[in-house]
Amino acid sequence: MDSSATTNFALPPFGHPMLRHFLLEDGFVSLNHGSYGTYPRSVRDSLRAYQDLAESNPDRWMRKTMHDEMTKVRSRLGTFLNCPPTDLAIVPNTSAGINAILRSMHLRPGDKLLCLSTIYEAMHQTLCYLCDTHEGVSLVCVEVAYPVSDDALVEAVEQVIEEEERKEDGLVGGRIRIAIVDAISSQPGVRVPFERLVKVLKRHRILSLVDGAHAIGHIPLDLQELDPDFLVTNCHKWLYSVRGSAVLYVPRRWQVSVHPTSISIGYKDRDFQAEFEWQGTIDFSGYMTIPAGMGFIPIFLEFACLNCNRWFHYSLLMPSPSSSIPALDFRTTLGGESRIQSYCHTLAVQGGQLVARLWGTSVMENPEGTLTANMVNVRLPLTTPATDNNMVKRQVHYLMEVQLLEFRCFAAPYRHAGAWWVRMCAQVYNEIGDFEVVAKALGVACKRLESVGGDVDKL
Ligand SMILES: Cc1ncc(COP(=O)(O)O)c(C=O)c1O
Repeated sequence: MDSSATTNFALPPFGHPMLRHFLLEDGFVSLNHGSYGTYPRSVRDSLRAYQDLAESNPDRWMRKTMHDEMTKVRSRLGTFLNCPPTDLAIVPNTSAGINAILRSMHLRPGDKLLCLSTIYEAMHQTLCYLCDTHEGVSLVCVEVAYPVSDDALVEAVEQVIEEEERKEDGLVGGRIRIAIVDAISSQPGVRVPFERLVKVLKRHRILSLVDGAHAIGHIPLDLQELDPDFLVTNCHKWLYSVRGSAVLYVPRRWQVSVHPTSISIGYKDRDFQAEFEWQGTIDFSGYMTIPAGMGFIPIFLEFACLNCNRWFHYSLLMPSPSSSIPALDFRTTLGGESRIQSYCHTLAVQGGQLVARLWGTSVMENPEGTLTANMVNVRLPLTTPATDNNMVKRQVHYLMEVQLLEFRCFAAPYRHAGAWWVRMCAQVYNEIGDFEVVAKALGVACKRLESVGGDVDKL
């Protein structure tokens, strides 16, 4: 599952020396890997190599090679996620995966769908669409205000379910057919006790759909152990593959009832993998940048000479002369999952504490200390009113513009439970100084907003 590399070599240093492996603009400080991700140069080269291969013989690619490569992609991901590769399909993004699951459901009047109030808004809208298009179907939403302890969150979800059961004379699960729970929610960017929630849902015979948009490459994932009914996770966020690549997990027991939203040729055989593999003609190259094959043997090492105290950088690929290395292999060259994830987590914790100290505010954390994974949420030094959505939007927009245009940095500001917050992501190319840069930019922007009571027009 964990691709932690065992090597006798010292591993490449994290922090700013990593920036040269990525394509970020010089001098730009990004603490927002969580929104869209970004991929290393070697993954970009891998994308180009696959595109060239496809164009060199489109028929061979579309009719043969692409399908073989997709099998390899699922196979590597199956090992990575500890599940049968036949339970996996590759989809463009989490939205596509979640839509496929939800819109495959045969909902009847009286059925209910469950979510938490911190659900990603696009997914919330998908649930609203289902309610609008299915008579008598309704949404049950569990209100969550962070910081909340894991125990309290799990209890709140179970209480809402039990309340629904009481309304239905003790029917297990009430009329709730399916529940969406985040592995890591977007805003706030916090780890959710999804493992415990999946167990609660199972106990109440409610289908669990884990929105793992932020999960793969961010926290360890073992699907055999978790055993959700469905899970989707974006490879283009924390795993470093090209934007537009995600994994959908559907265990065998549900495969006959799940179809992509775009029905195509595979439907005639009712074959889960064939249905998802071909939903019409697209450029499949991005999918290959997850783990890929093509016979590359990535040997991409940086190591320190202990005697002369210098770093040496080796980039060797066999048999290709190019430097293309897909995401999973790139991560192995960095030392594997535990090294990457522990660097990012430690930096997020330290960065959050530093910023909270500089602003005289606080980090969003619960008594168990489980909320911060590789994203940390810090309260902004801002007390301006946010009486309506428009006022929130305009102030958020201002906070973003000051960062992007004046200070050349970015972290995502948002409002939650009556207060202003920012979500700061730590990645292998970040260092503690990056948190200071963003703290300065947002500190200035917040002071200006305070001076006009949040009325952006006066600035
Ligand atoms: C929790 C969560 N769910 C779903 C999504 C949607 O992902 P995508 O736009 O790749 O479909 C996101 C995107 O950031 C997210 O944070």
